[in-house]
Amino acid sequence: MDLAVKALVIILIIQCSTAHVLSKSLSEEDSSTTSCVNATRRTEDGLRLKRFVQTYSLKNVSISGLLGLTNLKKANGALDFISLIKKVRTFSTQFLRTITVHNTEDGLLDFTGLAKKYIGMVKAYNVITKDGYILKIFRIPNKSGNVVLITHGILCSSDDFIIRGKSSLVYMLAQKGYDVWVMNFRGNRYSRNHITLNPDIDAEFWSYSMHEFGVYDLSAVIDFALNTTNKEQLSVIGHSEGTSSVFVLTSMMPEYNDKMKVFVALSPVVYLSDSGLAMKALIRVAPIFNEILPFEIQEVLGYQSLERKVFQYLCSHGQVGYELCYNLILAALTGYDPYNLEPEFFLSVLGHFPAGTSRKNIMHFAQVGNSDRFARYDYGAYNKDIYGTRTPPNYDLTKVTCNVTMFVSKNDAILGLKSAERLKKELSNVRGYYVLKYELFSHLDFLYARDAHNILYPQVINMLN
Ligand SMILES: *[C@@H]1O[C@H](CO)[C@@H](O)[C@H](O)[C@H]1NC(C)=O
Ligand SMILES: *[C@@H]1O[C@H](CO)[C@@H](O)[C@H](O)[C@H]1NC(C)=O
Ligand SMILES: *[C@@H]1O[C@H](CO)[C@@H](O)[C@H](O)[C@H]1NC(C)=O
Ligand SMILES: *[C@@H]1O[C@H](CO)[C@@H](O)[C@H](O)[C@H]1NC(C)=O
Ligand SMILES: *[C@@H]1O[C@H](CO)[C@@H](O)[C@H](O)[C@H]1NC(C)=O
Repeated sequence: MDLAVKALVIILIIQCSTAHVLSKSLSEEDSSTTSCVNATRRTEDGLRLKRFVQTYSLKNVSISGLLGLTNLKKANGALDFISLIKKVRTFSTQFLRTITVHNTEDGLLDFTGLAKKYIGMVKAYNVITKDGYILKIFRIPNKSGNVVLITHGILCSSDDFIIRGKSSLVYMLAQKGYDVWVMNFRGNRYSRNHITLNPDIDAEFWSYSMHEFGVYDLSAVIDFALNTTNKEQLSVIGHSEGTSSVFVLTSMMPEYNDKMKVFVALSPVVYLSDSGLAMKALIRVAPIFNEILPFEIQEVLGYQSLERKVFQYLCSHGQVGYELCYNLILAALTGYDPYNLEPEFFLSVLGHFPAGTSRKNIMHFAQVGNSDRFARYDYGAYNKDIYGTRTPPNYDLTKVTCNVTMFVSKNDAILGLKSAERLKKELSNVRGYYVLKYELFSHLDFLYARDAHNILYPQVINMLN
């Protein structure tokens, strides 16, 4: 807890220094976005930053000591925090009336629009899960092709696999003749529907995490795709939490192992023991946020939410927005590789990411990080009633018998290599384990990298045969 409070303080300091940068550079804002970017220099900076972070994560550095901070009292922190949220909300509502978000054509199109533009063909289906969620999934059909299902990570959506247009994974799979299905897990912008619950009113709608993604959403969509195509098996390509959900499914419902020909796991997040510093801080601080945030806030960064609009506004504001949101936030949390996520394309990404999820989903993720166990949701005092044990049971990875191929990278600030190797050891059927050669390949690069169509996707597609 003490450490979490310190992390919160650090985040506030980062925000203050950002404000300083912001005020300094607003006058330069009109200069062209691209001229600021020097790919060579950025790569050097990236390597330097990476070495710096590596050096300091190995040492036992007391960050609060370093900054000369004293501990904050939590009760005071909590009070201030709630009034701070209220102030920010009031301010933002007024502020939003006066602004326009910068966007690109691809940022404004949805999955259907992007698929029509780049591929010329798309189908959408509503799949209803056993517990009543209505998932909207997309398909680039090919009756004679093998079926492949793509699953996205936390706060993402189907769109992240197609925004790169003709360099995207969806496009390349379709070109190769696959029958491509793309998932949208419950609660994101496309799957914010339920047969009886109203996501705007019923908190119960948001009571889900990767557990429900696996057990309800994936099982329903896999059955639907196999039934629709009249096939016995499909392949799955997952990214991040889209892989954790597959491990949940195959450990809880082992009969699904045989329905998957191959499972290609891109940055499979199951253990989080060697994440980057910023991600570690966020994982530590999440339980505190969860305690002090009002119960009414159940959806996180919903596609239509005020928070998201503010995020998109700030981040789409020229070079300053890029520095603020990419360099200081996203790259710190996921790995720094500006060459592969250039400012112009970042604007398109901001039209799609984040796509919303539940607070419980984020909490489950944080629990996995804090407990260092790939276990079911921790309900604290209620565990005994729900699971019959004081702590939640682990997902049994020995039940995962499908063919798994793992792709991981050295500059992934969420999934470190130690955690990746630990997962590899615990799975019984790893057919391939690839560490990307490109040093700076980050967690988001699996989705967005401008070079992914050269250095990753051809290998991924090879694994499906
Ligand atoms: C980019 O940075 C590199 C290394 O700092 C430098 O050698 C090169 O001249 C720069 N290129 C441009 C176009 O500024
Ligand atoms: C790390 O720091 C803590 C708190 O200052 C201290 O108790 C611990 O012994 C240190 N560990 C190492 C390996 O230096
Ligand atoms: C469908 O897949 C087959 C074989 O996989 C391929 O030959 C054909 O070109 C594909 N059709 C379309 C419209 O992409
Ligand atoms: C599979 O399709 C058939 C016929 O379209 C339908 O009756 C059946 O309910 C479907 N099963 C599943 C699991 O979707
Ligand atoms: C796993 O791969 C092997 C070799 O390609 C294949 O024989 C086997 O059927 C696959 N397993 C499943 C469940 O499809």
